[in-house]
Amino acid sequence: MSLMIETRGLTKSYGDFVALRGIDLKVEGGDIFGFIGPNGAGKTTTIRILTTLLEPTGGDARVAGMSVWDDKDSIRGLVGYMPDAFGVYPDMTVTEYLHFFAAAYGIGRGERHGLVSGLLELTDLTFKEDALVDSLSKGMQQRLGLARALVHDPKVLVLDEPAAGLDPRARVELREILRELQRMGKTILLSSHILSELEEICNRIGIVEQGRLVAQGSTEEILDQLSAEGSRIQLRTTNNKEALELLNAHPAIGGAALDEDDPAIVRVELVGGDDEIGRLSTILADGGIGIRHLSEDRVSLEQAFMRLTRGLVQ
Ligand SMILES: Nc1ncnc2c1ncn2[C@@H]1O[C@H](COP(=O)(O)OP(=O)(O)O)[C@@H](O)[C@H]1O
Ligand SMILES: [Mg+2]
Repeated sequence: MSLMIETRGLTKSYGDFVALRGIDLKVEGGDIFGFIGPNGAGKTTTIRILTTLLEPTGGDARVAGMSVWDDKDSIRGLVGYMPDAFGVYPDMTVTEYLHFFAAAYGIGRGERHGLVSGLLELTDLTFKEDALVDSLSKGMQQRLGLARALVHDPKVLVLDEPAAGLDPRARVELREILRELQRMGKTILLSSHILSELEEICNRIGIVEQGRLVAQGSTEEILDQLSAEGSRIQLRTTNNKEALELLNAHPAIGGAALDEDDPAIVRVELVGGDDEIGRLSTILADGGIGIRHLSEDRVSLEQAFMRLTRGLVQ
């Protein structure tokens, strides 16, 4: 696989304010790459540089080997971009809207019909082809934005916060479409300020914080790294009272307590990574206590993420 997006020492200042402090991103062809970081971290700035809408202050950003400094037009032909906000929609139907953007890309009338109906099918919007854009739900508008980003059949898709504000069902639909686009050979970079929003969609993740890339790797590696920061487990056991005593007596366990609302649940803080869960099972098994249910808190990943980003900035 070849590098499809690469930035080297990418910097950007807005006046005195340094928004990007040397970003080295690597996105391989065929990746669904999650660009994750809290608000203000520099995601949109990086994305606008990659789409040639904004010039960097220093360093370089390349798409398919072409530099944003010299090859703006070629890059625009290769990249489909979905901004984080669309502003006000015109008084147009869904079909008219896509025809409008296809025409803007110089695609002739004859070709446009097949193209637009194909895009509507891909984004599951055929049933809304005659609806006014304004009347669509948030999820449908996001899918229309995606269709719009695809009119010139770009190799690379850059989507700024595409899952923001979507309900879980709309998020699943978005994920299915992105997987389909990946199968079609597209390379996709998408941003989010919420890790859990992207962890199931992306094969690779980069975490950005205050203009620095603090971690980059396969989703698995990054999640392992985060869970090594400590995690929280929910347990149901055959004897919660004894389980608590055993766990709290053990130095390798960060602490255990009954859930405040539901005493059938034991909440455990772990200090290490995955092997800690094995140790916890052993401690309980040795005490003759059975585990009825064990799950990792989703929230804790988010907290680990916050800790990781905060810790590395100092
Ligand atoms: N046009 C601008 N002028 C001045 N500061 C800006 C401008 N655009 C963004 N910034 C600042 O740069 C930082 C990064 O912004 P942005 O790239 O939008 O972050 P993100 O998309 O991760 O939320 C923020 O502190 C933001 O306030
Ligand atoms: Mg942004």
